[in-house]
Amino acid sequence: MRDVILDVDMGIDDAIAAMYLTTFAEVRIAAAGTVHGNVDAAGAARNVLRVFDLCDIDAPVAIGAARPLVRDLHLAPEVHGADGLGNVAPPASSREPSGESAPEQLVRLARSDPGRYEILATGPLTNLAVALVLEPRLPELVRAVTIMGGAAHGVGNMTPLAEANIWHDPEAARLVFAATWPLTMVGLDVTNVTRLEEQDLARLGRSPAPRAALAGRILVHYLDFYEMITSRRVCPLHDPLAAGILADPTLVTRSLDAEISVGLDEASRGMTIVDRRRDGGPVATDAPAAHRVVTEVDGRRFVEDLLTRLGA
Ligand code: RIB
Ligand code: CA
Repeated sequence: MRDVILDVDMGIDDAIAAMYLTTFAEVRIAAAGTVHGNVDAAGAARNVLRVFDLCDIDAPVAIGAARPLVRDLHLAPEVHGADGLGNVAPPASSREPSGESAPEQLVRLARSDPGRYEILATGPLTNLAVALVLEPRLPELVRAVTIMGGAAHGVGNMTPLAEANIWHDPEAARLVFAATWPLTMVGLDVTNVTRLEEQDLARLGRSPAPRAALAGRILVHYLDFYEMITSRRVCPLHDPLAAGILADPTLVTRSLDAEISVGLDEASRGMTIVDRRRDGGPVATDAPAAHRVVTEVDGRRFVEDLLTRLGA
């Protein structure tokens, strides 16, 4: 059994990622922390509890960072709706967040059983950065970290150069990438091209299964946003792909190990700078904080698996 701590800005694709992850028998969601990003951190916690209710997950939910370390708060209602779930969220949960903060929860769990917990972070990295400050040994205490964020090839979705999760809190991302933990970065190189197409959405729309039905409902708002950009009713699968790679690493068909830094000035804010000079060379590198950057995946196999597991 693999124990996973979610760290999320629970918007539409975070919710689909969480629902998907709950379908893997060998994965247990042990806890969730929430962070500002798509929606405020308290709203994200409400959304996590809604999704956990639907999936019958009883894990604690801790509200985390309400704002980035240095930058101003920026939310994304135009992409995810004012409530973060396309304004069609299921009824509020009767459960409450735990009262502990998300970084403290992370540190407590990691200390309690070194090497046991994996982290899946699909929002800005503020909680992970604060946890690293609270507990500098955190990289030795967690089993692995998988993040959705950044890009290896200088593409962006928030700015021409920056992916949203990294852009929201670039100072936090810098701390997280400088830490020597086993980290896999699932960025826009792979998530932008791993999409739900019209026929996939039709399958979701027809399914009475609770996970598929909720996905179909909340995706309407997400698709409205992407249609404005691409003129097609299709959408990328950012956070679900990161969850898929955590659960099934064989989805990765190409990756490289590289140091990752983050742009902090006005033009480069949130840009991940992936040192690709070793691309195609030996996989192992002696750089102190080399991380695995996913550059190609079996996208169609992933989408099929996602739809099947959601019940579509
Ligand atoms: O850039 C995509 C990421 O930003 C996803 O995690 C999405 O949920 C938003 O947080
Ligand atoms: Ca997210």
